[in-house]
Amino acid sequence: MARLALEGLTKAYGTAPPAVDGLTLEAEEGEFLALLGPSGCGKTTTLRMVAGLVPADRGRIRLGEEDITAAPVHTRGIGLVFQSYALFPHMDAVGNIGFGLEMQGVPKAERQARVAEALRLTRLEGLGHRRPRELSGGQQQRVALARAIAIRPRLLLLDECLSNLDAKLREEMRGEIRDIQRASATTALFVTHDQTEALSICDTVAVMHRGRIEQRGTPEEIYERPATRFVASFIGRMNAIDGPAPVMTREGPLGAGETAMVRPHRVRLLREGAAAEGDNAASGTVRRITYIGDIVQVQAATPLGPLAAEVSGASPLWRGLDVGAPVGLAWSSSDTLRFPA
Ligand SMILES: Nc1ncnc2c1ncn2[C@@H]1O[C@H](COP(=O)(O)OP(=O)(O)O)[C@@H](O)[C@H]1O
Ligand SMILES: [Mg+2]
Repeated sequence: MARLALEGLTKAYGTAPPAVDGLTLEAEEGEFLALLGPSGCGKTTTLRMVAGLVPADRGRIRLGEEDITAAPVHTRGIGLVFQSYALFPHMDAVGNIGFGLEMQGVPKAERQARVAEALRLTRLEGLGHRRPRELSGGQQQRVALARAIAIRPRLLLLDECLSNLDAKLREEMRGEIRDIQRASATTALFVTHDQTEALSICDTVAVMHRGRIEQRGTPEEIYERPATRFVASFIGRMNAIDGPAPVMTREGPLGAGETAMVRPHRVRLLREGAAAEGDNAASGTVRRITYIGDIVQVQAATPLGPLAAEVSGASPLWRGLDVGAPVGLAWSSSDTLRFPA
């Protein structure tokens, strides 16, 4: 395992604006770092530069003490797992997992031991002699993961590798990938556009937007203290109120050219006649009631614009509430962020 440091990494395709634009990012030794951002923000391009599959226009890539910016792919010691499993269809799981080791010239006995270890870690024991088409999607993804860890990489790169799996299996595999990464103590960079996946799998999240990192922090820091308006609106649900408006934020009253943001679960829903508590309040009319798993989101039209509040599905607050009903919304300035509009 090794520390990964990207410094001012830049890549443009043809004459288009750079897909990756002066990106600086570090993953500590043994850290599980998620690179999270919307489709097209440059995540895959970043990973391909780290892997050596795409040359960087500018910037440096360091792995441990070594500058690998221009190093050939096979000398980087990097394990790769993609969304498409990219397994050899004519080889069984053992053949696929051992392929990279054979290329590295690892002797047969050692190779067999490492393949067996990788099969065990990915819970594929007993399936080693099946070909990809005889395996389910989840099992094929495990083979791809086993192949990546069998080479004992200094760095593991995972690109949207769970996107093809159904929701239940995806959740299971998240936990397994995390366990395998810990057990092998490998530094990992996990690319995803899915915020739930990023927040639940990693030690640290780096939020990427337009080829750059907007914020790096723990899942809690990113969620509770978003550094930019983009991060605030990309991670989790958010109400936005454009100023000027009679709203208090953590940093004072909301002015012109500013936007206040508050998460719907921090907004209290009040039935007609109830007194508002909290230093921000608005009265409104219910526009929509939506069930989101075990919470219920109530959207209301208010003089401040549309605002949503979330209550527990078990709460009596939303029972009997209909579209068109008058409601109150109240929230605290300490839960209200302020950004330039
Ligand atoms: N081989 C390529 N040739 C030209 N443009 C590309 C190529 N690969 C990616 N791009 C463009 O670069 C930008 C970033 O793409 P990508 O790195 O794949 O983003 P992400 O993985 O975050 O979805 C996009 O605008 C995409 O269309
Ligand atoms: Mg991608």
